[in-house]
Amino acid sequence: MAGRTERLDKIVSMSGYGSRKDVKKIIKRGEVTVNGRIVTDTGAPVDPTVDLICVFGEQLVFKEFVYIMMNKPKGVISSTRDLRETTVIDLLEGEYSHRKLFPVGRLDKDAEGLLLITDDGQLAHRLLTPRKKVEKVYYIEVKGCLGEEDVKAFREGIFLGNYRALPAKLEILDSGEVSSALVTVYEGKFHQIKRMVKARGKEVIYLKRLSMGPLKLDESLNPGEWRELTDEEVNMLKSIESDS
Ligand code: URA
Repeated sequence: MAGRTERLDKIVSMSGYGSRKDVKKIIKRGEVTVNGRIVTDTGAPVDPTVDLICVFGEQLVFKEFVYIMMNKPKGVISSTRDLRETTVIDLLEGEYSHRKLFPVGRLDKDAEGLLLITDDGQLAHRLLTPRKKVEKVYYIEVKGCLGEEDVKAFREGIFLGNYRALPAKLEILDSGEVSSALVTVYEGKFHQIKRMVKARGKEVIYLKRLSMGPLKLDESLNPGEWRELTDEEVNMLKSIESDS
């Protein structure tokens, strides 16, 4: 956003001081200064990377985008809004209601693990586009015995009805009546892993995403918990973003 001006009420609202309507009232009451002068014009043009904006006397820290890592729990859906179901955005309890946040890619309702939530559409697009082949790693538990034939089939690309999946990596951790494994895929088709496992005559009974590109699930987050990404994590994601 450097060098780009925006309306004052938009910038103050994006910085967590309430809805546009709330913020307009705050500005009109004379609670906002720009470069040391009270500004009551809600639409005044400001550049938050250059102008010093204070709200209630405290310096506004402007973030162009928000990046949240969530350990998605089972039972919630990876959508923004739903009339019947709890969504991952509902779990943020309105904390970022001034932002248009959305999950980057989907995890099934019964799946857990790493979910990136942001309002940075460009970054989301680059992470999701099949062209980038961003690596995603999942831990799975499977009803049925996984073996070397399955590893080979994953490596060769499993046929899913009308589509052959890209070669994927299956690392068996434990094999038996219930098996566990790590799966690495480079695309994100609907129910991809469940369908790949089903094509091998077995059934996924637990699925957790561990990583997406360079971003790894912070295992200190319990299911349902979330935190903002560190600057280092954001920079790692942006570095894959700018790779060609
Ligand atoms: N593959 C699946 O089958 N489900 C998910 O949620 C993610 C990958």
